[in-house]
Amino acid sequence: MSSTIGAILRVTTFGESHCAGVGAVLDGCPPGLALSEADIQPQLDRRRPGQSIITTPRDEKDEIQILSGVESGVTLGTPIGLFVKNREYRPGDYKEMRNIPRPSHADFTYQAKYGVRASSGGGRSSARETIGRVAAGAVAEKWLRETFGVEIVAWVSAAGKVDAADLAGKGLTRAQVDRNDVRCPDEGCAGKMMAQIIAARDEGDSLGGVVTCECRGVPAGWGEPVFDKTEALLAQAMLSIPATKGFEIGSGFAGSRMKGSEHNDAFELKDGRLGTVTNNSGGIQGGITNGESIVMRVAFKPPATIGKAQQTADFNGDSVVLEAKGRHDPCVVPRAVPIVESMCALVLADLALRQRSRMNG
Ligand SMILES: Cc1cc2nc3c(=O)[nH]c(=O)nc-3n(C[C@H](O)[C@H](O)[C@H](O)COP(=O)(O)O)c2cc1C
Repeated sequence: MSSTIGAILRVTTFGESHCAGVGAVLDGCPPGLALSEADIQPQLDRRRPGQSIITTPRDEKDEIQILSGVESGVTLGTPIGLFVKNREYRPGDYKEMRNIPRPSHADFTYQAKYGVRASSGGGRSSARETIGRVAAGAVAEKWLRETFGVEIVAWVSAAGKVDAADLAGKGLTRAQVDRNDVRCPDEGCAGKMMAQIIAARDEGDSLGGVVTCECRGVPAGWGEPVFDKTEALLAQAMLSIPATKGFEIGSGFAGSRMKGSEHNDAFELKDGRLGTVTNNSGGIQGGITNGESIVMRVAFKPPATIGKAQQTADFNGDSVVLEAKGRHDPCVVPRAVPIVESMCALVLADLALRQRSRMNG
């Protein structure tokens, strides 16, 4: 049973889709970090619904409020309470679905587990839960950037059947990623992705996609073998994001089709440190960061709630046709970009603090 992640930097998220609000408690953040709402809001704005024509039209401003743990603009080292009000919920949209578990959503499994469930909006399984992650992740990211110079940038590398060029290692910035609504910096592909998402939405359907994330400037030596290897924690963090279906690090599944002679990352002297010529390892060896960029890919399924008629069964097992109402994302990957970045930041900041705790001096 866990709404908490992390060992030293611990985040607990709370809130349902249609309750008073959502947020997180971030405990273990080092004291003395300059912090205000303005450090957090930009990532929430990139996550928020209603930001473009290819996201759900639910119009939430998602304004962050820091409730505790910060005084006179700096963190106190005490738990940081982060809160966002739910404003634009419409439980009425879910009335017809109350007795019908949405195919591939979490209605059936939450009911099976708890014997009761939030009556609308997916409850804890809703993407609104990720607001707490993004708010806490923005704090972790700021600390990582200011303390170590770590930079985390994610982007959409596939949507529907369109694959973008491999842009890892090209020094992409968030500004480049945000140049279009799909958040795909391969401009040639972005238009095609956009067209496919709009076509799916207009048919009452949905599409999946892939988010690639690169973490630059991570020092060698982070990661806790054996069960808390960096890639294991990243995989857990990523696969805890709703709608994720796959995780790859470095060469990923493609690496299984290469020879050792092709796959090995030979060492060389780089800017005065021992680096590698290639990065098939994705910046991690033996579960420990090696100083190269950490590169991962996260696969997202097409969201389950679709307007198109689906033959299914209600909770009694009676055959029904479901045409879902409500406001839903036709493809989640553009909004998933800041969520992936945030989960990366939370995992890496925790590992940085764990590494600090084992060093002398
Ligand atoms: C940013 C984001 C937005 C989402 N929007 C929707 C949505 O509008 N409709 C929907 O059915 N699922 C949406 N999802 C996915 C569901 O939350 C998720 O599929 C559902 O809880 C079932 O969990 P699972 O897919 O992890 O098994 C979204 C996910 C993310 C990350």
